[in-house]
Amino acid sequence: RAAAILDYTSPARHRRKSHKHNKSAQSLLNKLIRSNLVNTTNQVEVLQKDPSSPLYSVRSFEELHLKPQLLRGVYGMGFNRPSKIQETALPMMLAEPAQNLIAQSQSGTGKTAAFVLAMLSHVDPNLNHPQCLCVSPTYELALQTGKVIEQMGKHYPEVKLVYAIRGNKLPRGMKLEEQIVIGTPGTMLDWCSKFRFIDPKKIKVFVLDEADVMIATQGHQDQSIRIQRMLPKNCQMLLFSATFEESVWSFAQRIVPEPNIIKLKREEETLDTIKQYYVLCNSKEEKFQALCNIYGGITIAQAMIFCHTRKTAGWLAGELSREGHQVALLSGEMQVEQRAAVIERFRDGKEKVLVTTNVCARGIDVEQVSVVINFDLPVDREGNPDNETYLHRIGRTGRFGKRGLAINMVDSKMSMNILNRIQDHFSK
Ligand SMILES: *[C@@H]1O[C@H](CO)[C@@H](O)[C@H](O)[C@H]1NC(C)=O
Repeated sequence: RAAAILDYTSPARHRRKSHKHNKSAQSLLNKLIRSNLVNTTNQVEVLQKDPSSPLYSVRSFEELHLKPQLLRGVYGMGFNRPSKIQETALPMMLAEPAQNLIAQSQSGTGKTAAFVLAMLSHVDPNLNHPQCLCVSPTYELALQTGKVIEQMGKHYPEVKLVYAIRGNKLPRGMKLEEQIVIGTPGTMLDWCSKFRFIDPKKIKVFVLDEADVMIATQGHQDQSIRIQRMLPKNCQMLLFSATFEESVWSFAQRIVPEPNIIKLKREEETLDTIKQYYVLCNSKEEKFQALCNIYGGITIAQAMIFCHTRKTAGWLAGELSREGHQVALLSGEMQVEQRAAVIERFRDGKEKVLVTTNVCARGIDVEQVSVVINFDLPVDREGNPDNETYLHRIGRTGRFGKRGLAINMVDSKMSMNILNRIQDHFSK
């Protein structure tokens, strides 16, 4: 099933090679994706659409009365009992008639497994047309979700999956037979309207993942809303986001009518286990020099270096290579196979340093990263310090309870001002 993602060539060639590709894709993705559940003590806050109906939560997967083949899939993935968010989210998501949900969750909370279970539970495998749509902001995230579907649906082979991502070209006039379609908003919209590969009126579950990332990308918000408008009224709408600032919230309400709402209280203390430093420089070149000076120190562990633009990331990776350092570059213009290969190599420790931009790094959890370098400080479109992103970048190092180190490169009065404001924000 995964062959569709990785073979961008003609459909004929795709069929011929699909067996081989299936296997390589499978092993690639197996390595790429880990579905670790992070033990969280986070409190969950629930707002029900109908507050008079009793709040129902489960302590075991058995209580959900899943199809046996799905229950086997769940246990096969190593989930023994529902995570905090799954305890409350799953009964809502699996209810009949379908309930809508807006949920806050970060990676490691079991969110993907939860909505995958909802999709797999609601599809009718006897009907050969798309019934569930899942939109993700990037290829990588779509692939991660796809992997979870593959694993959870391992004993349910009648349910098929296809990726609506740029480069996966289908012949005109074709009608999809797969029950689940995962993809990015632009291609998904084209497949529903322009090409009519999908009949949106037959969709039963619509999932919008990583809404906060979605709205940060030009056009994604609009495309998502246009897809949603084509779906039937009784279609179940599920939306997930790591954060809920005002803009995400208003987008969520446009996508999901009459929602139940689940919020996770965020663990702010992640910064407590992280040592934060800055290095004062005068220019980009000096920042590079400073980085070289501490390079031996940061490569004791694995490090991620964040740049503001692709251009800077490319330049920096080039300069570091020229110095004889072995670094990986994860960049927006790369093909999906290339990105997958880069992440896999980094995850396997083949490269100790990964240079990237914020956009690229979203959705990647690399446990062993204990050093984060902000070659450029995170700023939003208006040039204000992006406190959330700062926490997200640095927070990954502390997320698994390990100690971490963060180093910020500062090269002007302006970036010093940004650093000071981030410092004010976190009082650290
Ligand atoms: C981040 O926090 C600082 C200090 O509180 C504040 O000045 C800045 O506006 C915040 N950034 C954003 C994007 O809200």
